[in-house]
Amino acid sequence: MQNGFLGLDIGTTSIKALVVDHVGQVIFSSNRPLELLTPQPAWAEQDPDGWWEAVQNILHSIPKTIKVQRIGLSGQMHTLVPIERDGRPIRNAILWCDQRTSAECALATKNLGGERQVIELIGNPIYPGFTLPKLLWMRQNEQKNFKRIKTALIAKDYIAYKLTGSIGTDPSDAAGSAMYDVVNKVWSGQLLEKLGLDPSILPPVTPSHAARGLLRTELAKSLGWDRVEVASGGADNAVSALGLGVFAPGDCMISIGTSGTVLGPTNNNVPDQSGRLHFFNHTVEGVSYYMGVMLAASACLNWFKDKLNTSLTYDQIQEKAEKAPIGANGLLWLPYLQGERTPHRDSNARGVLFGVSTMTDEAQIFRAVMEGITFGLRDCFELLKYITKIDRVLVVGGGAKSRLWREMLATNIKLPVIMPAIDEGGAYGAAMLAAIGTGLDVATVGQWQKTASVTD
Ligand code: XUL
Repeated sequence: MQNGFLGLDIGTTSIKALVVDHVGQVIFSSNRPLELLTPQPAWAEQDPDGWWEAVQNILHSIPKTIKVQRIGLSGQMHTLVPIERDGRPIRNAILWCDQRTSAECALATKNLGGERQVIELIGNPIYPGFTLPKLLWMRQNEQKNFKRIKTALIAKDYIAYKLTGSIGTDPSDAAGSAMYDVVNKVWSGQLLEKLGLDPSILPPVTPSHAARGLLRTELAKSLGWDRVEVASGGADNAVSALGLGVFAPGDCMISIGTSGTVLGPTNNNVPDQSGRLHFFNHTVEGVSYYMGVMLAASACLNWFKDKLNTSLTYDQIQEKAEKAPIGANGLLWLPYLQGERTPHRDSNARGVLFGVSTMTDEAQIFRAVMEGITFGLRDCFELLKYITKIDRVLVVGGGAKSRLWREMLATNIKLPVIMPAIDEGGAYGAAMLAAIGTGLDVATVGQWQKTASVTD
């Protein structure tokens, strides 16, 4: 029998699970793909019970030779799951990349006295992807649904509820709701009152490693497990950073995933007054971080692969792109398929392929797309460098597996980029959160990356 900590990540394209032993070795890994619904252009939704089905499926697939000691969670940030009195989701989850709420953001900002005031109240401006404007959108457009809301949960909190029956969230996910005062670490009563929202719809906030509850009896029984404890968990970017050991100033995580993020921890409890970088609570108590977010990073490459109807694999795409000249013969890609957060803050921004000529070929298109995404990450990095010092950069996500992409990034940010030994996203950090609650401390699990290698 092997003992281990289970980390579950509720992602946008898949649910990912890892079991990690006491020294950080991965002893089990599994994932299940998820469906993304786009009922209207720039809308993005998912069925929360689709996540739950996939999670149950994975739980039942864990070999009986593994004894899970504690469970940790990670999940897509900002994603609203409104549940009613009986705990059922009232509608599909509205995702972090959904752009339907520009009008609600503008009106709420105005009603709160302007952007300076908003940053004063919650540490961030209100972005269309955040949770608050989604609630305001429901109040405006789905009044019946809105009235039924008992609690507004974020993605991983819904799974924690299904696992344990307990309602709650953690500071890293509360931070991305635009209803939490990131500096003072409380729900902003003032903001809620001014916007006429009932504070009782917000869940209690407990630290990311703290217990949310025990696995429900009937679920534990069906798995043949003890009633193991489930930790609150955290926001995927913060949890991924924890998984890499990125929780001290000087370190930086750049993630080239569906979204692109550039994250730098800080001990200064001071928001970015320009509102261009997000300022959120980390999963480690007392630490915060600044983050720039691109809404479509690898998502752009996937879109081109799909639309060009190419049978090339990602490795072959890299090989092709490498053959095109640096600068892709003047071809430029503006990577704003979903609008953009950092640095443009424009949900109406759209993708542009500029400079197409009769000479343009597939190789140049792929290179231009990778370069365009890299320039977007550099935009975020420049802002981050301005606000906090950066000595060490770790690069993760699907895009980080490409040597060409890592080289482009290093050239652009003028620093070497390091690939971690284990790049398993939020699931690895979630397993760390599970371990931290059993007496291991942050410093000890923070060393796992340095000592572990993937065995499965
Ligand atoms: C961060 C953000 C995305 C999601 C992806 O603010 O919206 O990176 O967390 O799951």
